[in-house]
Amino acid sequence: MNYILGIESSCDDTSAAVLRDTTICSNVIANQAVHTSFGGVVPELASRAHQQNIIPVVETALRKAGITKEQLSAIAFTRGPGLLGSLLVGTSFAKSFAYALNIPLIEVNHMEAHVLAHFIVDEEKLKDIPHFPFLCLTVSGGHTQIVKLSDHFSMQIIGRTIDDAAGEAFDKAAKILGLPYPGGPLIDKYAKEGNPKAFKFSKPNIQALDYSFSGLKTSFLYLVRDHLKQDPDFIEKNLADLCASIQHAIVETLMKKLIMAVKQTGIKEVAIAGGVSANSGLRNAILEQQNNGWKVFIPDFQFTTDNAAMIAVAGYFKFLKKDFADLTVAPYSRQG
Ligand code: KG4
Ligand code: ZN
Repeated sequence: MNYILGIESSCDDTSAAVLRDTTICSNVIANQAVHTSFGGVVPELASRAHQQNIIPVVETALRKAGITKEQLSAIAFTRGPGLLGSLLVGTSFAKSFAYALNIPLIEVNHMEAHVLAHFIVDEEKLKDIPHFPFLCLTVSGGHTQIVKLSDHFSMQIIGRTIDDAAGEAFDKAAKILGLPYPGGPLIDKYAKEGNPKAFKFSKPNIQALDYSFSGLKTSFLYLVRDHLKQDPDFIEKNLADLCASIQHAIVETLMKKLIMAVKQTGIKEVAIAGGVSANSGLRNAILEQQNNGWKVFIPDFQFTTDNAAMIAVAGYFKFLKKDFADLTVAPYSRQG
């Protein structure tokens, strides 16, 4: 039995989690309210908030797991991709802690971890885990990609966005509507009361399994701008319909390529991961595909947006392989 501490600090959430092998013992997340009024994450402020949060968050994660730091077997941390200043806080903390405790240090790729979150076992909500090979649509604020997994760490990216990520499309649409950051969850909330067919937008026409969301954002911007010229209260009067329509357009775009990927690969075990996998429209759309013989994997809400439990589970699989980092390891901001 091994206790793995996971540390996540790639963007604006400071998180620490303890796993007993793949079973979750604690998952603590400190959100940074400081960015809300800026309409997006301010990197300098994010690093500073991580610096303030990291030790209390780790102490809480250990306490909630009911273990002492001496019981830890290894420390896993997000090495990248993400904001460099934010990553440096988690990386430096993880290195010092592993060094002080004289236990292995494990570096984790944030995007791989989003997918591997499907292997976290929660004893209170037991559910199936995917079998290899399976496909995963990873949709977050910074990335949108379809990956094919033939092993925990053999992930082939078979489709990706050529411009904005799906989460960015949600957040930018929300900003156009005057909603605070991050707007994705708010669009999801208002969309529940609206008509998804009320407004139509130009559809992206991108090759193969790739995505593009920048045209959709521009089309949404022009639609709102043109209507506001006629009626200054257009947004207030149509908020639910606008949210439902843009959500429908984003989800339809995501599903179109995912369905193509299933047809091309013949793989019918399909998962979704990342912050946008919390979206109710996307969850319903993928669940509908069960009627077409798909076996669908939807993460628990706490494992959709950034969290350290996913870092710890990815760390656990590397721990089994003795795939350890040394103390010269440094973060990277891009996926490579
Ligand atoms: O995975 P994540 O926490 O961070 C990154 O790695 O980027 O994803 C954050 C993104 C944000 O763009 C946020 O608006 C979006 O996930 N998001 C949602 C929902 N919950 C979070 N988008 C649509 N509907 C949601 N319910
Ligand atoms: Zn993420």
